[in-house]
Amino acid sequence: DGVNRLGDMIAAARVIVPFTGAGISTEAGIPDFRSPGGLWTRNRPIHFEEFVASQDARDEAWRRRFAMQETFAAARPGRGHRALASLYRAGKIPAVITQNIDNLHQESGFAADHVIELHGNTTYARCIGCGQRYELGWVQERFAADGAAPDCPACAEPVKTATVSFGQAMPENEMQRATELAQHCDLFIAIGSSLVVWPAAGFPLMARQAGARLVIINREPTDQDDVADLVVHQDIGEVLGPFVRN
Ligand code: OAD
Ligand code: ZN
Repeated sequence: DGVNRLGDMIAAARVIVPFTGAGISTEAGIPDFRSPGGLWTRNRPIHFEEFVASQDARDEAWRRRFAMQETFAAARPGRGHRALASLYRAGKIPAVITQNIDNLHQESGFAADHVIELHGNTTYARCIGCGQRYELGWVQERFAADGAAPDCPACAEPVKTATVSFGQAMPENEMQRATELAQHCDLFIAIGSSLVVWPAAGFPLMARQAGARLVIINREPTDQDDVADLVVHQDIGEVLGPFVRN
């Protein structure tokens, strides 16, 4: 079946590049975006232009973030994360490309430099003007004291989670590194992504076109299933659990 074929493909591959989406973190208790109960079924996204233009939008964005804080703080890597970390330690995976912002690949054992975060990271904040980093505790204190989302003390521009919102530019260095990884692997595995958000969703096709075999592991069908060499419509923890070593 699919899981056996995946095992054969992983054993035969020299360079495996995983590409992950929110589905790898649902086992850790973090909701995804588009499944029933997902974040975008409850709230519409706040676009970057709104965040820049409106104090109300910034206040709402930070209220939503703080409402999720216990969930993010309690989350631990699941079987999918741990399986990828095992293959990384075994030298089969040079780096993981992720759309996730939850820091769980780092927590599972990937060096920070080997986690290519296409959509940033929500466990800290940055000024959107000067790029200065701020910790969430600082933002929360300022929000409580002022009753409003804070601006950067250095340059007076808004402070935002270090994530990429709709309408915000993709990080250039990460796009470049993801491109190189996609073009220089022999097995590319898309895991837990609906593959509808671009340009991120372009990497599986890019890898396929550069000659890699493409595997998609996702509970729901995706638009790219028909170009994949193997599609596994099962739970990620069950599919990748057998690859956990430690
Ligand atoms: P989505 O919510 O769009 O897709 C997650 C996919 O994972 C769904 O197709 C689920 O069926 C599947 N899934 C969830 N749990 C699973 C499990 N345990 N086993 C197998 N499959 C499972 O999330 P992403 O594709 O990551 O970007 O979303 C892409 C981007 O859209 C995000 O990075 C975010 C969002 O808007 C920005 O905000 C810019
Ligand atoms: Zn600043």
